[in-house]
Amino acid sequence: MQEISNRIRSEIFKAAVESSYDGIHILDKKGKTLYINKACERIEGVSCEEVRRKDIRELVESGVYSESVTLKVLEEDAPVTISQKAKNGNEILVTGTPIYVDGEIDIIVVNSRDITELNHLKRELFEKEELASRYHRELELLRSERIKLNGIISKSTAMEKIISLSLIVAKVDSTVFLHGESGVGKGVLSNFIHMNSIRRNGPFIKIDCSAIPESLFESELFGYETGAFTGAERGGKTGLLELANGGTVFLDEIGEMPLSMQAKLMRSIQDREIVKVGGKQIVPINIRIIAATNRDLEEMVENKTFRKDLFYRLNVVPILIPPLRERPEDIYPLLLEMIRRVNDKYNMNKKISNEAIECMIKYEWPGNIRELENVTERMMVTSDAPVIGKLDVPRTIMSNYNDSRWIAKAFKGTYSQKLREFDKLLITEAIEKEGSVVKAANELGVNVTTIRRKLGKYQENE
Ligand SMILES: Nc1ncnc2c1ncn2[C@@H]1O[C@H](COP(=O)(O)OP(=O)(O)OP(=O)(O)O)[C@@H](O)[C@H]1O
Ligand SMILES: [Mg+2]
Repeated sequence: MQEISNRIRSEIFKAAVESSYDGIHILDKKGKTLYINKACERIEGVSCEEVRRKDIRELVESGVYSESVTLKVLEEDAPVTISQKAKNGNEILVTGTPIYVDGEIDIIVVNSRDITELNHLKRELFEKEELASRYHRELELLRSERIKLNGIISKSTAMEKIISLSLIVAKVDSTVFLHGESGVGKGVLSNFIHMNSIRRNGPFIKIDCSAIPESLFESELFGYETGAFTGAERGGKTGLLELANGGTVFLDEIGEMPLSMQAKLMRSIQDREIVKVGGKQIVPINIRIIAATNRDLEEMVENKTFRKDLFYRLNVVPILIPPLRERPEDIYPLLLEMIRRVNDKYNMNKKISNEAIECMIKYEWPGNIRELENVTERMMVTSDAPVIGKLDVPRTIMSNYNDSRWIAKAFKGTYSQKLREFDKLLITEAIEKEGSVVKAANELGVNVTTIRRKLGKYQENE
């Protein structure tokens, strides 16, 4: 190798040390500075001139350095690393390395690195981790809340059958199609299936198809890439189907999904993959699908407002939840459950009288369990009494109860005698109110001759 002159060697040394981003400070074994690079000024906030002039002990005494790694190296006779706060407030990591000549320390090379930014990032990371773990705990809590909410009431045989079928299908990944009138518990059952499936620790994403405007459907379901359309958020957005990866997607009110969207959904359900709006990449998705509607999808298929192929894809395991009026055994336990929920929610301890219970059981509940839930809450919060009585029961429910009682009790005799009495009352009341037989017939929507014939017969028997 070519001989390098001392002058060139010293220039190479200087160029190398000055190009270092870290501070490099070289001292002799007495603590006198031999060399200090420019980076030290930036990192430690010291003046190179001042450092060069003074001994390291003096610099510590005068407060230029809070402590000296050089002195520690000399004391310990070994490399030392400390972290310290520099004069300019920077947090620095300082390593002193002894260099030996004939077994004795000859010089000490001190390397200082500004770790302010690193520490800042570390703190930020720590805060983010804290936040993530808090969200995680919150999510766990919400999921466990959901398990509690899963207290589905199923006293009737019909509901018991539905629950056992749901437990069976929960164990497999088949698509479930829930149908039934509004408020019968389709939402609750979909959650119950998810919570009893192996996906229970994965996400449960409910997509309310009736609440998403047609123009937003595609980007909501599939997500979009940056700049996919004007107004798109920077960085793009993850779609709901992708968000549900590893879990269950609940397509609620599927009957409201626009036809244009049905074809796209069909494809992604079939292939279990999606392509974001404005994107090219195919993203595989691992989801289980539960769909629900209160509309007659078969009729919609006939009217061509719902795609036949999508209907067959969804209708793998159909579950029909009957209306509450067809399972009256469920009313009482449901009523108790709703009272418990309202008591819990408002920290109350109200009860309900037997008479009020009787009225509620006799009612038909066209709005099903949601109506029962709302009525119970209304009764409980609007009454001051600790026990909900008959008078607290809303009029619509009472009149229904009273009417049926009145007909049954008001007329004596056999079934046909009761019917005849009731018919007679209807006719005479209508004549009285309308003022003539013709007008009464018109009001009741029957023939005048029918009214006359019946009137004659009833008067004959009097
Ligand atoms: N079997 C049940 N046990 C306890 N609570 C129930 C049961 N079924 C329904 N509910 C309650 O009744 C309310 C309505 O249920 P849900 O929202 O699931 O009905 P839905 O069939 O989805 O109605 P919609 O078609 O209007 O969306 C909810 O608050 C739910 O908690
Ligand atoms: Mg619902």
